[in-house]
Amino acid sequence: MSFARVIGTGGYLPEKVLTSAELEKMVDTTEQWIISRTGVRERRIAADHERTSDLAERASRAALDEAGISPQELDLIIVATTTPDHVFPSVACLLQDRLGIHNGGPAFDIQAVCTGFVYALDVVNRFFLTGASKKALVVGAETFSRIIDWTDRNTCILFGDGAGAVVLEAADEPGIVSTHLHADGKYHELLSVPMGVSANYEQVLKGEAYTQMRGSEVFKWAVKALGDIVDETLLANSLEKSDIDWLIPHQANIRIINATAKKLDMNMNRVIVTVDRHGNTSAASIPLAFNEAVRDGRIQRGQKVIMEGFGGGFTWGSILLVY
Ligand code: ACO
Repeated sequence: MSFARVIGTGGYLPEKVLTSAELEKMVDTTEQWIISRTGVRERRIAADHERTSDLAERASRAALDEAGISPQELDLIIVATTTPDHVFPSVACLLQDRLGIHNGGPAFDIQAVCTGFVYALDVVNRFFLTGASKKALVVGAETFSRIIDWTDRNTCILFGDGAGAVVLEAADEPGIVSTHLHADGKYHELLSVPMGVSANYEQVLKGEAYTQMRGSEVFKWAVKALGDIVDETLLANSLEKSDIDWLIPHQANIRIINATAKKLDMNMNRVIVTVDRHGNTSAASIPLAFNEAVRDGRIQRGQKVIMEGFGGGFTWGSILLVY
């Protein structure tokens, strides 16, 4: 049995910064309201020419550099995204080609909105456990700004664009220790882009495929799910809260992060926070935060990390790993 062990991380944020103060000129809001209700001071917005695959490639190359391996050594690529370049082919296949990999290894996308990266790590872990993969690239990449109605103050203040990536290698020592995934489609109407290829196609053609959210209901659900999933992870591994070195929550709203940390008695200096500078980058938020904390030296080898996500669907889940 092999563990999936992280050997490299990377991140990429588009150059354009959109501050919460600038949003005052776009919708009926104030910088102070946005910061106090969400914690988001600024977010990055992809340039017109930048696609999700471009962001994914930048983050992947950084992760591969850090891992010190060539792209040709990868035998699996998974990209978590809700904002792919095209209906098909997948971003993973585009990325495989950009990286010059033509070894016939599998490449596919996963869509679980903001829980996408957690879902992708669960899947990659199963490939490692069965021996089907020995070196894999997992990416969370989004151009969420493209599915935002920039005249809707309820949603446009929250989201940003970016990509984060990890390279994993089969190892005898952990690695990913346990994974916990959930979904409940009963709540699909609370958070959605209710347009698509086989539904309301006319509105897609008119460019009206935007994120809709019943924010306060999502908020309550997110706080509960993100607290419960950590309890579930600790119980499954016979661990105490104090055994966890770092919590990397999905970066949706600083109030959700604070509430989760409080519920878990976790001091905020053990919680990785990027929402103030990145906003909610959906599937990219956890790998971006992970990369930042690894690169600045907060997360050290041998430490226990819980990643937890919550998103549309609803979907939610967690990963316990030893870095
Ligand atoms: N500026 C000023 N006022 C605003 C703004 C704004 N940008 N947005 C909403 N308001 C107003 C509302 O219209 C409402 O006014 P009303 O009382 O006159 O009707 C008032 O502020 C309060 O609205 P609420 O929705 O109750 O505000 P809340 O405190 O819940 O904050 C927010 C809204 C920030 C959206 C919050 O609910 C939230 O973060 N929800 C969760 C988002 C999330 O976690 N998503 C998860 C995953 S995302 C994914 O999967 C894609």
